[in-house]
Amino acid sequence: MTEKIQTISPLVDQFSRTISYLRLSLTDRCNLRCLYCMPEETENGNRPVKGGKSLCHQDLLSYEELLRVVRLAVSLGMNKLRLTGGEPLVRRGVLDFIHELYRLPGLDEVRLTTNGVLLAEYADRLYREGVRHLNISLDTLQAEKFITITGRDHYHQVRAGIDAALALGFQLKLNVVAMRGINDDEITAFGRLALEFPLQVRFIEFMPVGETSSWREQRFIAAEEIRERIARLGQLSPYQRRHSEGPARMFELRTADGQKGVVGFISPISHHFCDQCNRLRLTSEGRLRACLLSDAESDLKALLRGGGSDREIVAAIKQAILDKPQGHALQQRGAEAAHGPLCVGQMSRIGG
Ligand code: 5AD
Ligand code: SF4
Repeated sequence: MTEKIQTISPLVDQFSRTISYLRLSLTDRCNLRCLYCMPEETENGNRPVKGGKSLCHQDLLSYEELLRVVRLAVSLGMNKLRLTGGEPLVRRGVLDFIHELYRLPGLDEVRLTTNGVLLAEYADRLYREGVRHLNISLDTLQAEKFITITGRDHYHQVRAGIDAALALGFQLKLNVVAMRGINDDEITAFGRLALEFPLQVRFIEFMPVGETSSWREQRFIAAEEIRERIARLGQLSPYQRRHSEGPARMFELRTADGQKGVVGFISPISHHFCDQCNRLRLTSEGRLRACLLSDAESDLKALLRGGGSDREIVAAIKQAILDKPQGHALQQRGAEAAHGPLCVGQMSRIGG
């Protein structure tokens, strides 16, 4: 058995990774029904998806509880926070919560991952509260196909949200889950979007996550193949970032006629990035989860509601960091060997 040694900082795990980045899933609810996340029905029938019920209000951590956890995590030195979901903007009071987060000393910035549906409405207030970085999930640039992928007719709302956010000066990253036979015909269109607008486009390999996921091997496209298709638009050269952390490999795309843009590839399957992973997640059920792709979690909610002291909560955060696995199951197996879901936790509760 390996002995667990607490190294220099409480945020350094057993494998010398500094865990400085906390992702909070505010809700498992969403105003979309993406086929790989929470589809309403299977593709070939009307069978309702099991486990598809959303959490009750009391199952979620309250904003007070969340603020307490964030305050303690920040006191340990965690300085990056991302709000996810489900869709974080559908939780009532989220803007006031963000306002309170910005009052916590030591927390520099709050970032959000959103599907963009409510963005046109919320962008202005988000900006005023201090948010500057948004990740927007968008898998197609065709309104009809948007309905096929997300089950909802909200494409134009998302585009209006992106326009509003760009006009305000947000830094945007578009997350595109690449799926063969679904949106692989749009890879170059997304590349062109990165040339046309001041936003970064990141392609994500489709991961077999959750029981309700529609993942199958034939749908999977390796990042390398996506990159080859993007390379038809122009030259790709490694893009230097100020913050080198994060799972995406970024490139500058430059066309023959001098247009420039930034694209990235997130390849959890073909090139795992576990050795650089700096994240800890708090699921919408109030469980600390050290790895997206492994189901080990610790129940922080029970501690919070059972009268746990600040010290005990800090200890639970430190323990979750110490227990962070070195890597996920696919690390050795590779995509071909992944039959069935890697983990059963629902993406909408974990927060991506
Ligand atoms: N594979 C890859 N990406 C996924 N996301 C959700 N489910 C999957 C999956 N199975 C993405 C969303 C969003 C981010 C939080 O995670 O599209 O961009
Ligand atoms: Fe909602 Fe995001 Fe899940 Fe799509 S992937 S259903 S936008 S939480």
